[in-house]
Amino acid sequence: MVEISSYIPEKAKIIGLKDETRDIRTFTLEEGGKKAFFFEPGQFVELSVIGVGESPFSISSAPGEALGLTVKNVGDVTQAMFNLKKGDEVGVRGPFGTHYPLEKMTGRDLVFVAGGFGMASLASAVKHALRNKKKFGRLSLYYGARSPDEFVFTSEIKQWTKRGLKVTRTIDNKCKGWKECVGFVHEAMKHRPPSKDCTAFVCGPPRMIDAAAAQLADTGISEKRIFVSLERKMCCGIGKCGHCLVHGKYVCRDGPVFNYEEAKEVME
Ligand SMILES: Cc1cc2nc3c(=O)[nH]c(=O)nc-3n(C[C@H](O)[C@H](O)[C@H](O)COP(=O)(O)OP(=O)(O)OC[C@H]3O[C@@H](n4cnc5c(N)ncnc54)[C@H](O)[C@@H]3O)c2cc1C
Ligand code: FES
Repeated sequence: MVEISSYIPEKAKIIGLKDETRDIRTFTLEEGGKKAFFFEPGQFVELSVIGVGESPFSISSAPGEALGLTVKNVGDVTQAMFNLKKGDEVGVRGPFGTHYPLEKMTGRDLVFVAGGFGMASLASAVKHALRNKKKFGRLSLYYGARSPDEFVFTSEIKQWTKRGLKVTRTIDNKCKGWKECVGFVHEAMKHRPPSKDCTAFVCGPPRMIDAAAAQLADTGISEKRIFVSLERKMCCGIGKCGHCLVHGKYVCRDGPVFNYEEAKEVME
């Protein structure tokens, strides 16, 4: 296993490309000729495109797999990534930040709550939990997207369902041919609540995180067992530059995964 440096980007080769939606693509990377490097679900890396810049991305693959990043094309770095092809090289620093503490949740039901491409960061945890299914209770996923064509990991989710993950998918507004739930993801949880004893992991846009974490807390789940992954503009990724500092917390180093009690201070 390879650990990539904190300060100096290591070269990594693109070995796989998969279009998830019209503007979201999963990149699979091989670093230094080795396919796996050590990370925990919920951590992120800083990826650089030479001559363009560097941005943070959550790791969407499971530990032990080649590094996977699921990226939405929104600006300079991501557009440059979308112009790359198999065999091209990028720079990678990391892994950085805190992780979803699955290792402390033996015996518990696990609930994953994703909004939009927040599924990228949770996919790593879902795959890891399914591989270690005997250690946990029931596994469920609540996943909301604006419309049916904005869900990522569609084929994987079918496989995960067969392996025992209970999946509730919901879209914002009714649309022709859609037979699953309609409404925001926190509303879907109101109708089909998870057990009070579960541990929940939440990732998505800020307003979705607010609503979903509050709904989980209303269900009676302790705020210390609700983990949310937050995003802030980042630069160094290692607690040095201060770009991501909010109310005394460095989101890159003290996060991005916080329990809800801590996260509420950061989100204020
Ligand atoms: C810990 C962490 C994990 C992330 N994981 C992923 C991921 O898995 N997949 C993914 O596609 N993106 C992820 N992002 C967001 C990604 O880093 C930004 O979209 C990045 O800035 C894109 O770079 P760019 O040069 O293409 O766009 P830019 O030119 O930097 O920005 C494009 C637009 O996005 C806005 N923006 C930039 N960064 C952020 C941010 N952190 N939060 C909100 N708005 C922002 C800018 O203001 C601008 O409007 C993550 C961010 C963090 C902090
Ligand atoms: S990004 Fe530099 S301190 Fe967090």
